[in-house]
Amino acid sequence: MAETIKPHGGVLINRIVDGAEREALLEHAKDLYALKINKWSISDLDLIGVGAFSPLTGFMGKEDYESVVERMRLADGTVWSIPITLPVEQGAAEQLCEGKQVALVGDIDDVVYAILNVQSIYNVDQKHEAVKVFKTDNTEHPGVQKLLSRPSTHVGGSIQVLNRPKLGKFEDFYFDPSETRRIFAEKGWRTVVGFQTRNPVHRAHEYIQKSAMEIVDALFLNPLVGETKSDDISADVRMRSYLALLENYYPKDRVFLGVFPAAMRYAGPREAIFHAMVRKNYGCTHFIVGRDHAGVGDYYGTYEAQEIFSNFTAEELGITPLFFEHSFFCTKCGNMASSKTCPHDKADHMHLSGTKVRALLRNGHCPPIEFTRPEVAEILIDGMRDQLEPANS
Ligand code: ADX
Repeated sequence: MAETIKPHGGVLINRIVDGAEREALLEHAKDLYALKINKWSISDLDLIGVGAFSPLTGFMGKEDYESVVERMRLADGTVWSIPITLPVEQGAAEQLCEGKQVALVGDIDDVVYAILNVQSIYNVDQKHEAVKVFKTDNTEHPGVQKLLSRPSTHVGGSIQVLNRPKLGKFEDFYFDPSETRRIFAEKGWRTVVGFQTRNPVHRAHEYIQKSAMEIVDALFLNPLVGETKSDDISADVRMRSYLALLENYYPKDRVFLGVFPAAMRYAGPREAIFHAMVRKNYGCTHFIVGRDHAGVGDYYGTYEAQEIFSNFTAEELGITPLFFEHSFFCTKCGNMASSKTCPHDKADHMHLSGTKVRALLRNGHCPPIEFTRPEVAEILIDGMRDQLEPANS
């Protein structure tokens, strides 16, 4: 078996409790204050529990939070770029006490997801966080909007996970980091490149993935299926588009598809660092960062999500980022290319705006083959139709 890369911080965290200990803690939870948590926090909690967010063992306390916001490191200096926090309403915060435990209970399903050992209760300046993490406090930015809609009091502390969220539609594609690590090792893959995406797959995605595959053993295709903004294409359609692409254009023995059940933050550069650290925990040795990774609107420069990596040493990162220039189909080259490989004029490059592609799909037309594989276009057209004509209308 091949050796897998060390998790971030050195140890793969496991905060999932089972067997008799779980039964006892579930009983104990009945005597604790029940703090209601929403879908987003349940997703964070589960990712902490399975070690995807190693070395975090719980929601961040004040010291880690401030250190992450100010210098992209945990208080002990480990690289970490996005606050992972649990906001609480004022009324609930008054029921909490440092040094005590609370039960974390789903606000919709009443499931006891975890016990939190309350180590820190603190208030934050959300506008300051927004400017530091998102580089803007403009409320039109979806990440900022989300941040400002949450209470500004946070509770931090380690967790013990007692129940896991129900798997979504693509349950066959949910793998915990311990499982992906085992699978990569069993397959004998020494180098695995991770690919994050929240969009339907197009030829530029395929091009950068396959360019990376030329130099590593395998590709871990890891589409995000947690919360996204409402106008992003649904996870269902994205997953179907990936399945169609893999079936028709990828070698089966060198690609592994698994979902990333996290919420999208749209924090551009900082999220690129976060995405890379998390993929290291899943066992990737390399991570693709292309144009405007995790960006939205024009809040970030095209290559800012690549430049941010230069703040850290290779040892601190552990995983190797693979940077790709903006890629496109060049009609003169007759190939996918980027400014690094193509000498031709912009006029020879095929550019289709998202708006134009959506208009084509909505009218049932496939975008050009140089832009999207026909098998994928068909799924997108179907997806658009379903959106326009909901099943029960
Ligand atoms: S993201 O928000 O998940 O980053 P998306 O799914 O569009 O969005 O991108 C997935 C990855 O592909 C990111 O690393 C992004 O930078 C890269 N990417 C997307 N389109 C291109 C392109 N035309 N050229 C180069 N890289 C790209």
